[in-house]
Amino acid sequence: MALREVLQFPDPRLKQVSEPVSEVTDEIRELARDMCDVMYDEPGIGLAAPQLGESIRLIVVDTEWTEDEEAERDPLVLVNPEIVAREGTLTWSEGCLSVPDYTADIERAARVSLRAHDLDGKPVEIEADEIQAVCFQHEIDHLDGVLFIDHISRLKRSLYVQKRKRALRDEAEASAL
Ligand code: NI
Repeated sequence: MALREVLQFPDPRLKQVSEPVSEVTDEIRELARDMCDVMYDEPGIGLAAPQLGESIRLIVVDTEWTEDEEAERDPLVLVNPEIVAREGTLTWSEGCLSVPDYTADIERAARVSLRAHDLDGKPVEIEADEIQAVCFQHEIDHLDGVLFIDHISRLKRSLYVQKRKRALRDEAEASAL
């Protein structure tokens, strides 16, 4: 089966605030599977539903998976995730499947407490630190239409926007040949 396409900056759908999931339906479970497939294929350590053009509050995260095909994969699929407590700060070099060819140091909370529901509709509570805390904050930002480049300085951001526009122009010219 073909993998779904990840929307890329500056697609306006990435700026939308996503709607809460009112009920976990088969469509939501299928979307979660598609999201995991895309995450492991890209590869990435997290993905939010809006990145596949679905404006709903659903994320998948797996900061521990390895390329080893034999290893069992255990993604966290979180419905309506919400950060309820933050502590400390840390700086992490972040990238994003929706922001091609760019990474930047971003300051985040060092530890977060999260509330969400799983795919069975059961409430879950998670405490995270290090890369997992960073990943949750990054993915939940996506649900609010926020990208990691919205956290960098205006100058750095405009340099990236110019670079991205050039790349898109080059792509368009190449495909016109
Ligand atoms: Ni991202």
